Amino acid sequence: MSKGRFYLTTAIDYANGAPHLGHAYEKILADVIARHQRMRGKDVHFLTGLDEHGQKVQQTAERQKQDPQILCDGVAALFREMLCLLNISNDDYIRTTEPRHKKVVQSLLQKLFDAGLIYRAEYTGFYSVRQEQFLHDKDRKEDGTWPEMFGEVTQITEANYFFRLAKFQPWLLEHLQSNPDFIYPRFRQNQVVEFLKDPINDLCISRPKTRLTWGIELPFDKDYVTYVWFDALVNYYSAVADKDRWPADVHVIGKDILVPPHAVYWPCMLKALGLEPPRRIVVHGWWNIAGAKASKSAGNAIDTLDLARKHGADAFRYFLIREMTVGQDSEFTQAQFETRYRTDLGNDLGNLLNRLLNMTGRYADGIVPEAKLDEAPEQAVRELWATTATKYLALSSDYQLKESLEDLWIFIRSLNAYIEARAPWKLGKSEDPTDKARLQSCLAHIAEGLRLTATALTPVMPTISQKLLADLGVPEATTFEGTLVWSNALKGKKLAEKDILFPPIIEAESSAKT
Ligand code: MSP
Repeated sequence: MSKGRFYLTTAIDYANGAPHLGHAYEKILADVIARHQRMRGKDVHFLTGLDEHGQKVQQTAERQKQDPQILCDGVAALFREMLCLLNISNDDYIRTTEPRHKKVVQSLLQKLFDAGLIYRAEYTGFYSVRQEQFLHDKDRKEDGTWPEMFGEVTQITEANYFFRLAKFQPWLLEHLQSNPDFIYPRFRQNQVVEFLKDPINDLCISRPKTRLTWGIELPFDKDYVTYVWFDALVNYYSAVADKDRWPADVHVIGKDILVPPHAVYWPCMLKALGLEPPRRIVVHGWWNIAGAKASKSAGNAIDTLDLARKHGADAFRYFLIREMTVGQDSEFTQAQFETRYRTDLGNDLGNLLNRLLNMTGRYADGIVPEAKLDEAPEQAVRELWATTATKYLALSSDYQLKESLEDLWIFIRSLNAYIEARAPWKLGKSEDPTDKARLQSCLAHIAEGLRLTATALTPVMPTISQKLLADLGVPEATTFEGTLVWSNALKGKKLAEKDILFPPIIEAESSAKT
């Protein structure tokens, strides 16, 4: 039975280049949230997509002497391939050149125009021909001149259309005050409040076709196209306009696009349209590689996806979620990936399963015995699980995913320590019936501990979890309801003989070699 609806989105990626680590992380983060909510019984709708209009795409297409739509089609294929590679469970993929999107953007523009919330005005400013953008005083160098990258800068006057953004500033401040959890983490919300301390300007929402043709035509003036941010933000609404899903429960975005687009333009646009703001914006930090933001232009990002190809999506997903506190930046190194792969995944989790399969094969014909004897070590394992499960659910519902995995690994390591303490290989040699019962309880506890671990891990590592559960003779976990409590559900189950969940990294491929 559904426990309510949950609509989740990611930023839509620019169509002017190939996917990289930053895009991959955001989709994985959102996917973990989506899978978690599904397992909590929510009817989830998970949207991601591609941002296809604007100057950057037009310029890239011109440089490549290609039709912009063909360029976008090619990039869309690359992004969808990435989603597939990373096992992202999105329910929809929106492209801003699709008619379903254009239609909604135009109708919302017309509505604002009719309500007098969009007006035409002349704007005078400094314009960079090379970058094809208006500049502000903050773009100047300290000596007042313009940086070289802008080329020739001239003062021009241009007529454009403006959205009455400033009118909504008092409402937005009030909304932030009465909804302190609107933006996660909270320090980001404070940045928005800080930004709003100064008066904001109305937003220019048009570009004359003389400068930019690759965009959605304004419904009230065919000489203009829509400014790309106005167009792009609407994707969250246009994709569900006919689905009764609005408002979104969570928008997942990176810190660079919070202020002003998501935290200022978007809520004010919605307010002006009489629509509810999203319930929450979850803002993640940046992945850096060698100190610089991973990006297409830095050319440092593409190979990271190769790790998912070589070592499996789940290992890659685990690594990114385990390393980054949601909201903070993180440094990506292949060496750190390999360390986590070998220790957390290979040694702690993979070996635990193998020990269980081996010993159950040797001492119990591969069948999970009944836990008849209950002594202090067994009780301690179960008690630790009870606190771990509660904390795991609480932390992961609150986007503290790295912390939730840290906790889960304390439990996994404690299972390994429990095996060492119980030493089943010694118990197996004993003729004493109490030792035999101890051995049986030990095997049953490890099996059940692994079942619970795999269930909890399902949103982060869906394929590995399913494999692990299959090794234990049970189907994949689809809900957390009732499945995270200690049970004897595995009694009598026939276990797999052997399974290497995380094959060792071949030295030749390791970063240690280079
Ligand atoms: N098209 C806009 C978003 C429009 S949403 C209505 C855009 N696209 S982007 O391709 O540049 O970035 C897409 C997402 O990836 C953003 O949320 C951005 O923060 C994120 N990342 C891009 N590089 C990143 C890192 N190096 N690290 C983590 N995420 C970063 O912005």
